[in-house]
Amino acid sequence: MTVTVNQSEEKDPAREFEQIRGLMLEQVQLVDQLILNELSSDVLLINQIGRYIVNSGGKRLRPLLHLLAANALGYEGDYHITLAAVIEFIHTATLLHDDVVDESDLRRGKDTANAVWGNAASVLVGDYLYSTAFEMMVRLQNLRIMEVMAKTTTAIAEGEVLQLLNVNNPATTEEKYLEVIWRKTAVLFSASAQLAAVVAGSGREMEDNLASYGMHLGAAFQLIDDALDYKADPERLGKNLGDDLAEGKPTLPLIYAMQKGTPEQAAVIRKSIEEGDREAFVEVYKIVESTNAIAYTEARAREEARKAIAVLTEVEDSRYKDAMMALAEFSVQRAY
Ligand code: IPE
Ligand code: IPE
Ligand code: MG
Ligand code: MG
Repeated sequence: MTVTVNQSEEKDPAREFEQIRGLMLEQVQLVDQLILNELSSDVLLINQIGRYIVNSGGKRLRPLLHLLAANALGYEGDYHITLAAVIEFIHTATLLHDDVVDESDLRRGKDTANAVWGNAASVLVGDYLYSTAFEMMVRLQNLRIMEVMAKTTTAIAEGEVLQLLNVNNPATTEEKYLEVIWRKTAVLFSASAQLAAVVAGSGREMEDNLASYGMHLGAAFQLIDDALDYKADPERLGKNLGDDLAEGKPTLPLIYAMQKGTPEQAAVIRKSIEEGDREAFVEVYKIVESTNAIAYTEARAREEARKAIAVLTEVEDSRYKDAMMALAEFSVQRAY
């Protein structure tokens, strides 16, 4: 496992990820089992949609991060197994809702739930997953856990609404964009790491350190997600390219390209954000490329990953900590 945040091409991020996962395999399997066990409503459609999305092969990166952090802090109980499943349920709920809002029809290489069952069913099953997550958390009888997670889900909702306000607005600044990604994505990574310090009883200072590690890693993760929406291999990504453009989302690649492009190029991008125009994808992509907007976005992501890794000096050395560093690196190098 290498932990330098750089641009080296030789490494295979997918292999790196499997190695990190391999380190936690037993606990990952317990989490997977728990996820399946908890998806057992007697309302058939809930099971059907829930299992459809849960079995469609997400990376389960947030639960992995939580497990690693708990192990890095020497935790020996089993609350982290439950929490890892809770975190994945919350993540999955946000995806069900997000695909409705973004009108996306492909996720994890399959038709989205909204494409198969419609928007209403997706929203309602997303709500069910949220509620199940909180029910599982209540069983742990730990108010601090509830507090962290309640704040997290509130922030995610705020992030999604903030993003909605920016849609079709080409005047969105980099600062406003960052505000959205901190909330809609980074806070869940942050909670995943912080809750490890809560269950391990490592104290508020360590909670803050891990929260900060997760926040930076999550920001890096979303920055790359926004770059991948323009430049990924769609087969590998399992999502359609151009969803953000079709939605009129002013993500960093576009914000930067408008700043650096010629007035004509900036006008093309402005118009495509205002109109949410997928047809303009090829033209917009060329501008994004020629202004080095993807490279800039990736550099910002690397910066965040570096900050995440820097915080970990506060955590005692172990192979789990090494894996947490490698996970920050994977978040930047990933192609899916
Ligand atoms: C997708 O998250 C949503 C974002 C925050 C970008 P992931 O890329 O972790 O999705 P899965 O769970 O692996 O499909
Ligand atoms: C992440 O944003 C959404 C959530 C935090 C739920 P995106 O809209 O970019 O995520 P993808 O690309 O659909 O996975
Ligand atoms: Mg989306
Ligand atoms: Mg995206």
